[in-house]
Amino acid sequence: MIRNWNPDSWRGLPIRQVPGYDDEAALGRVENTLRTYPPLVFAGEARRLKERLSAVSAGSAFLLLGGDCAESFAEFHPNNIRDMFKVLLQMAVVLTFGGGLPVVKLGRMAGQFAKPRSSDTETRNGVTLPSYRGDIINSLEFDAAGREPDPQRMVQAYSQSAATLNLLRAFAQGGYADLHRVHAWNQDFVADSPQGERYRALADRLTETLDFMAACGLNSETTPQIRETEFYTAHEGLFLSYEEALTRVDSTTGDWYDCSAHLVWIGDRTRQFDGAHVEFMRGIKNPIGMKCGPTLEPDDLLRLIDRLNPANEPGRLTLITRMGADQVEARLPRLIRKVEREQRAVVWCIDPMHGNTVTSANGYKTRSFDRILDELHAALAIHAAEGSHAGGVHFELTGQNVTECIGGAQAISEASLGDNYLTHCDPRLNASQALELAFEIAAALKEARHGNGAPSASRLAAVS
Ligand code: PEP
Ligand code: CO
Repeated sequence: MIRNWNPDSWRGLPIRQVPGYDDEAALGRVENTLRTYPPLVFAGEARRLKERLSAVSAGSAFLLLGGDCAESFAEFHPNNIRDMFKVLLQMAVVLTFGGGLPVVKLGRMAGQFAKPRSSDTETRNGVTLPSYRGDIINSLEFDAAGREPDPQRMVQAYSQSAATLNLLRAFAQGGYADLHRVHAWNQDFVADSPQGERYRALADRLTETLDFMAACGLNSETTPQIRETEFYTAHEGLFLSYEEALTRVDSTTGDWYDCSAHLVWIGDRTRQFDGAHVEFMRGIKNPIGMKCGPTLEPDDLLRLIDRLNPANEPGRLTLITRMGADQVEARLPRLIRKVEREQRAVVWCIDPMHGNTVTSANGYKTRSFDRILDELHAALAIHAAEGSHAGGVHFELTGQNVTECIGGAQAISEASLGDNYLTHCDPRLNASQALELAFEIAAALKEARHGNGAPSASRLAAVS
């Protein structure tokens, strides 16, 4: 028998990846403060995203999920928000052309602050301190005071999320995202690169098409789809004290929604069937995600699906697979076969980043562009071979010109990682690398479309 659900029914269940607070009473006071703050998103918006994702699960739309691994207080700046938004719009344009499908844009933004860690502690020069767990919990600064969890950080994370979301809404609806501005989204440092040129050529075609449509009477004034875009937000729902405090009853339906973001997901380290995170997520009505790593077995996946989406509603559950280029061929097809055979409606989203993280010889956490591309191509080919819809992709990226991932057309080398390495957690693609990947995916989607969904011989060879 499944127990009754409440926003706090996760409390008391086994929980991973949450630090102890010395002063529990202080944590409780901040939770109570946040309970009185306005929700960041409206339940109706989360329902609309669920509808969009149900189109993705049916194969008639494509999902682009991307943003920072960890948002930080230090990198909070309007230019960074703008540049992230720009690169996601550019990628969406490229993917729309390639896939011939509407692209659902979902930013890892405005709330992506809490991080699971593989170790509880970090040692440097013989000194051991608690690990950094994201700016909503403690500080990246390696000193005892900084690494102490501080509940007041939750209020700062909330404020930053509110301000970020406000700007994103303004960009999406206030004219910045008007398709006539497609050239203006090309940033200086990308514009001069081969990706920038490819993008310019595509933007020229789009502009021509818009001129044609304007001649037919369809323009920004008459057609909101040209003038505005829909943009949604998502983050890992890891820090349940924060998520619970923002969970509210929707007055129009009487249902509970986690109003910290449109979509929240369960991380690969916290998807235990009887654990606190699965308990919290099963009761909120938002569309939700779950990361699926190489240790996930098909039967366990099915049990989790049935707990998280018992009514098998399309759009409710997005499975974000992150197997690693080495393991994707062994691990992904078994999950797909199980889910498809049992006819569970899910969105399949490919995260080619989290299974491909390595430490460089000079000590940087990095990822190779080629490995990311390998997993992407392999996963796309597997979906084509299994007859499932590769519904979306998930990337850690930034609009900034960082040097965190190796390779790509800029040929970022191990030696140059230190030039502009800014991430607080995992290495992100820079805008040029992100755009390059979008072109790769677009080409694969186009090939699948023109070949009636059948993968090419070379792609099939890659997975056999
Ligand atoms: C992440 O998306 O940043 C993350 C921690 O992923 P995963 O849960 O897949 O390891
Ligand atoms: Co990450």
